[in-house]
Amino acid sequence: MTNAWRRAGKAARAARADSADRGRAAGDDAGFAGACDNGGVTAVSTLPVPSGDPGYGDPADALPDAPDGALKLDLPPLTLGPITVDTPVILAPMAGITNKAFRRLCREYGGGLYVSEMVTSRALVERSPESMRIISHDDDEAVRSVQLYGVDPKTVGAAVRLLVEEDRADHIDLNFGCPVPKVTRKGGGAALPWKLDLFTGIVQTAVREASKGNVPLTIKMRKGIDEDHLTFREAGRIARDSGVAAVALHGRTAAQFYSGQADWNAIAELREALPDIPVLGNGDIWSAEDAVRMVRQTGVDGVVIGRGCQGRPWLFGDLVNAFEGSSSRHRPGLGQVADTVYRHAELLVETFGSEMMGLRDIRKHMAWYFKGYVVGGELRAKLATVPTLEVLRGLLDELDKDSPYPGQDAEGPRGRAGSPKRTALPEHWLDGRVLNAAQQADIAAAEVDVSGG
Ligand SMILES: Cc1cc2nc3c(=O)[nH]c(=O)nc-3n(C[C@H](O)[C@H](O)[C@H](O)COP(=O)(O)O)c2cc1C
Repeated sequence: MTNAWRRAGKAARAARADSADRGRAAGDDAGFAGACDNGGVTAVSTLPVPSGDPGYGDPADALPDAPDGALKLDLPPLTLGPITVDTPVILAPMAGITNKAFRRLCREYGGGLYVSEMVTSRALVERSPESMRIISHDDDEAVRSVQLYGVDPKTVGAAVRLLVEEDRADHIDLNFGCPVPKVTRKGGGAALPWKLDLFTGIVQTAVREASKGNVPLTIKMRKGIDEDHLTFREAGRIARDSGVAAVALHGRTAAQFYSGQADWNAIAELREALPDIPVLGNGDIWSAEDAVRMVRQTGVDGVVIGRGCQGRPWLFGDLVNAFEGSSSRHRPGLGQVADTVYRHAELLVETFGSEMMGLRDIRKHMAWYFKGYVVGGELRAKLATVPTLEVLRGLLDELDKDSPYPGQDAEGPRGRAGSPKRTALPEHWLDGRVLNAAQQADIAAAEVDVSGG
């Protein structure tokens, strides 16, 4: 399956609005929602096995059946300004994960939009080597998507200008969802939309700069700081009024970090409140069936998927299949997973231009790739410290390549979870919705070099 992109007209937007209505109506269908609510992955799918296709596993490992066509979504392509994303699925920006290598792996399985790791505006404006690596794309990445983090309108504006004037991006996303203390303590990430003047300034400046190159600008945010300090409603309206091409909502507060469950009702509420722009839903999509369920339940125009892709780039193939109404799913046996791990490592070596750095990076992916598969503890430990491609090849050769897809054990949540924490904030941050003089003075200095979401 390859990406297919085309320039869109007004018709797609009208079709999208129609479909959102249909999606919301379908969300009322208790039969469907009920069937899939139970853990998401349990109520799916027949697994036709195309002969000779190494990406498919043994039908004996199939999850339970769904009637053919039951999952078909009548969802039109996602329109982001001049860009049309045929399968309305977005790889969430993930620092340390969504580099060129991982984006390529995902792209090879399916269609969608693949966002870079976030880059700090100041580092980009200063052209640090790391920021230039983060914004680099493969020649065949049809849509070069970059996520920017910033807290100061001037610096964010300069970063957007650089990307646009030097033709380094086709889509720019702004990060207002980062919950890490290092960021929120300075008023950045998920803390920022609380200050309406600052948020408005950043989004308006970024949209203005991006529009000079007809580059669509989107924002990605959380529900708010905590349940008593929600920001997504005003932030969504301000962003829409500022001219963003779409808003994405991760249905958690910063205080939740990655704990608990994403609140899809908040996503539905935002979809309802902003009928005139695409709204994208994010949080706790672990399978293609979860993605379909989110669209049906919330009416969103597209889904953003983070941790569910970790160790599973083939999820993008499943997503295309599901959105097209096919019940085929990738169920790789251990041999296919091993091949993907090796290829991922090779791509990382190429991306970093260093075997040492590429291998250091692949280590964190091992537990995700082998989740649920039969791999001995000693071998797992060696894989998690693998030093070279040659050693990796040897370790992967020790695996039982004929071991089949393990079924449910390979499904479900993966990656970061954590527990709720009180959000670190600048002094007196919650006292008012606009910056006071001291906060204003501090904000320009708050462009820290951080990663995380
Ligand atoms: C390792 C990791 C890194 C992340 N980095 C970013 C980031 O750079 N920018 C961002 O907006 N969100 C970031 N996030 C948040 C994800 O984009 C996404 O919103 C979150 O994981 C919830 O979606 P999920 O349930 O599909 O994982 C990160 C998440 C993880 C797990």
